[in-house]
Amino acid sequence: MIKKLLASVREYKKPSILAPIYISLEVVMEVVIPLLMAKLIDNGLEKGDLSYVFIVGGILVLCTVISLLFGVLSGSCAAEASAGFAKNLRHDMFKKVQTFSFSNIDKFSTAGLVTRLTTDTTNLQNAYQMIIRTAVRSPFMLIFSLAMAFSINGKLAWVFLGAVPILGIGLWIIMSKAHPTFKRVFKTYDRLNRVVQENLRGVRVVKAYVRGEHEKEKFETVSQSIYEDFSYAEKVLAFNQPIMQFCMYAGMLLISWLGALLIVDGDMKTGELMSLLSYAGQILMSLMMLSMIFVMITMSRASAERIVEVLDEQSEITNPEDPVDTVKDGSIVFENVSFSYSGKGGRLALKDASIRIESGMTVGILGGTGSAKSTFAQLVPRLYDATEGRVLVGGVDVRDYDLDTLRDNVAMVLQKNVLFSGTIKDNLRWGNKYATDEQMEHACKLAQADGFIKSFPDGYDTYIEQGGTNVSGGQKQRLCIARALLKNPKILILDDSTSAVDTATDGLIRKAFAEYLPDTTKLIIAQRVSSVENADLIIVMDKGRISASGTHEQLLETSEIYREVYETQTKGGDDNGAA
Ligand SMILES: Nc1ncnc2c1ncn2[C@@H]1O[C@H](COP(=O)(O)OP(=O)(O)OP(=O)(O)O)[C@@H](O)[C@H]1O
Ligand SMILES: [Mg+2]
Repeated sequence: MIKKLLASVREYKKPSILAPIYISLEVVMEVVIPLLMAKLIDNGLEKGDLSYVFIVGGILVLCTVISLLFGVLSGSCAAEASAGFAKNLRHDMFKKVQTFSFSNIDKFSTAGLVTRLTTDTTNLQNAYQMIIRTAVRSPFMLIFSLAMAFSINGKLAWVFLGAVPILGIGLWIIMSKAHPTFKRVFKTYDRLNRVVQENLRGVRVVKAYVRGEHEKEKFETVSQSIYEDFSYAEKVLAFNQPIMQFCMYAGMLLISWLGALLIVDGDMKTGELMSLLSYAGQILMSLMMLSMIFVMITMSRASAERIVEVLDEQSEITNPEDPVDTVKDGSIVFENVSFSYSGKGGRLALKDASIRIESGMTVGILGGTGSAKSTFAQLVPRLYDATEGRVLVGGVDVRDYDLDTLRDNVAMVLQKNVLFSGTIKDNLRWGNKYATDEQMEHACKLAQADGFIKSFPDGYDTYIEQGGTNVSGGQKQRLCIARALLKNPKILILDDSTSAVDTATDGLIRKAFAEYLPDTTKLIIAQRVSSVENADLIIVMDKGRISASGTHEQLLETSEIYREVYETQTKGGDDNGAA
């Protein structure tokens, strides 16, 4: 786990190494200072040797300045190193997430990924800074100060060692209580993020259903739970301080008392006692810092585990060894394809589908909700891999293609589509980075989007808000279609992409496709028979199976399901089937 994380240090290795070096030099200086003080008092002040006082005093000042300098240097190195480390970590995680297939994304929740990229990374950043600085400083300080203390007075120094077990036991109790709480807190953070995200994304639904109060309660529960966990953990941690101070003052008292006895007996000098007391402070301080580091590590261990989980996740859909990088034509073949969202052995969403679609055909896919229409279509651009059987595009198994090539040639307008914040042009260029204005306009004309775009005051430069909230549902769908068209794909899949478009416009889109995209294979998933009636082939899906396929006329004869759907939509005055 640590190796995996350290891989993200990269170009920040130098400051990461310099920080502990500087800090150790600072420690050396800090340890020397009390020693010099002792000399100054015992040999200079007590004996009234002024020149000695000046020399040692000068060295003291110099040491202080150097120590300060190293302190500042190590601080800035550590800050750079840790911020850089966090940057790389975020970068690596984000890059990893980009490689995730749909099924990887199904596994991690969006909220979980957001927490990992933000809170968890910040935790690690703090921990890293602490480790390359304080975690080097404290043990160093402890060892040096102890050595110094022993060299000044071996007997008195034992008092320090006496304090160690008391502190150690106290810390151990604190840690074992705090760790599980911190672990829980981060899980709760995921929940908090989820609640906020869901609420913000669905704010219109929340308002429409007057669920504001309910959402508020949900938020408050989570928020309260974080408050409780955190305050508990922090309260436990707060015991650190009193235990520490108890040891410190008890130690100091003991040393002062014993020291005073020794001085009275003439076995020790005043300066020595003073520096011993300084070391006492340093030792106890470093012990406290060490305990803080343990706390920090406990806290960040939970975060580190969560981050490594993302970094370790293997994308289930990867490029093959020797990828095919041209798609010959737009033919599609399904050979006994079964698919389960939960992998082998799971519940089959698509069962034993076999079908042959010639290049350039217009194919309609019809079926009730949950009949696996989307599932079927998603296997073509390899958004998921078939669990059993194989899917061929242009005569080649989709798993043998270079992924980018495949997806450039198979444009799919997803059922749950999104526009991104940016102008309409920005959004259209997702389809083709280098699209010219004419190409964009042409695509929008085919998708029947040109008209309404031009009616906007800013035309193609109209700014689309995050999630496309400032265009209507039907407008959004048409923009998404235009975006897909700009890819100039061999296969175009529209997953219920005209559901919010009126029937007349829907018809115009189909007409434009037939006219201008004769060679493109068009897969149209629809709820309305009218959308697919004129297709070369219609596939009827039912409960995860291909129940029938053929032309409109053939299906009216052979498929009971198709006939029923057709009749309910054309008779019954259902305006869906009116066209
Ligand atoms: N990401 C997913 N994870 C797990 N199960 C899923 C997922 N997406 C769909 N399913 C399940 O697979 C089955 C088929 O869903 P699919 O989305 O293909 O139906 P559909 O025909 O497209 O329906 P609709 O007309 O409502 O879009 C459903 O039972 C659904 O619950
Ligand atoms: Mg669907």
